[in-house]
Amino acid sequence: MKAKEPIVALLVAAGKGTRLGGPIPKQYQRVGDQPVIAHAIRAMLRCQHIDHVVCAISPDARDLYFQSTDMIRDKRVMPPVDGGDSRAASVRNALRVLATLSPRRVLIHDAARPFISSEAMNALCTANDAAILAEPVVDALWRSQGELAHEPVSRAGLWRAQTPQAFPFEEILAAHQADANSLSPALDDAETYRRAGGDVRLLPGETDNFKITTAADMARAERLIAQERQMEVRTGHGFDVHRFRAGDHVWLCGVKIPHTASLEGHSDADVGLHALADAIYGALGEGDIGTHFPPTDPKWKAAESHVFLTHAAKLLSSRNARLVNADITLLCEAPKIKPHSAMMRERLAQILEVSADRLSVKATTMERMGAIGREEGMGCIATATIELPR
Ligand code: CTP
Ligand code: MG
Repeated sequence: MKAKEPIVALLVAAGKGTRLGGPIPKQYQRVGDQPVIAHAIRAMLRCQHIDHVVCAISPDARDLYFQSTDMIRDKRVMPPVDGGDSRAASVRNALRVLATLSPRRVLIHDAARPFISSEAMNALCTANDAAILAEPVVDALWRSQGELAHEPVSRAGLWRAQTPQAFPFEEILAAHQADANSLSPALDDAETYRRAGGDVRLLPGETDNFKITTAADMARAERLIAQERQMEVRTGHGFDVHRFRAGDHVWLCGVKIPHTASLEGHSDADVGLHALADAIYGALGEGDIGTHFPPTDPKWKAAESHVFLTHAAKLLSSRNARLVNADITLLCEAPKIKPHSAMMRERLAQILEVSADRLSVKATTMERMGAIGREEGMGCIATATIELPR
């Protein structure tokens, strides 16, 4: 299904950037350590739903384009296509080239908007209809006459459109072809789509998803990048073991699994949750489970261990940190972990409020060596990588 009907991202980058000015068009100017267009391409690539990315560029900017993007190795980036005299013409040319891929859906995005979030990308990719990002107008609106405010304009029902704008591919291609000879090219793709009679849904836009247009926007972009850069990455590890006792199930990574024994411990003895919570405490430099939940306190007797991981997650967010990823290895001869690992990931994702693709759960036996090999108990090793403000 995916290979046959890809979702493609089209970046429009053929403009001259006249309002910003400067020696080269705005999309090739650097903000932080990369040109604006490289940030925009990387934002598209961060979205797992995107199968191909293509840029519509001015034919005289080919060298600039290749210089600006040579650090990006992702195979999903296609060779650039020539843009046209208007934004609409640039989009039309690119859509015609993309048609050879028979895409199911296309996200059309201004290369001059480098800060689109993955959440917004996901929402646009998983919808089926035509949908654009937009923010309601919050300022009072005035029509001018010369230098004077002339008459107020109601802001009720007015929206500021952003990109990406997402469409079923065949429909937006047909709309652009039909509008090709229009004397007034549409300002965005929603307008083109509406001219062809389609309905366009408004999805919540994002404050940071602004279009770099003026020098003040460039300065704002620099500030945002500097802020992002001020995060540092840290790693912590956790290790835990529990002894087996008589019983018929074990709790591992928040999932109950039938077994010929149970694990002994103060709480429910979930080695997976304990090791992971310790890894997070470790990365934060905040001690371990025992620091926060003293084993001497009867309150935590028979506690369900998700309480510990939830606490570690709250501690992360209270420090404005976030989990980048965690990798968990359970050590046991039995039970078999593989049949349950997907459910464990889901459960951990739910507790930590992160997406499951940031988590990994695997297992190994001890080749029958040592205490764990003799099935006297089981163990777990976890590593957590976090990002937190400097
Ligand atoms: N664009 C394009 N082809 C054109 C005109 C614009 O691909 N013929 C692209 C721009 O590169 C930009 C997006 O459409 O990513 C939105 O256009 P805008 O912000 O107006 O960019 P410019 O026209 O380059 O800038 P300005 O209007 O300030 O000159
Ligand atoms: Mg323009």
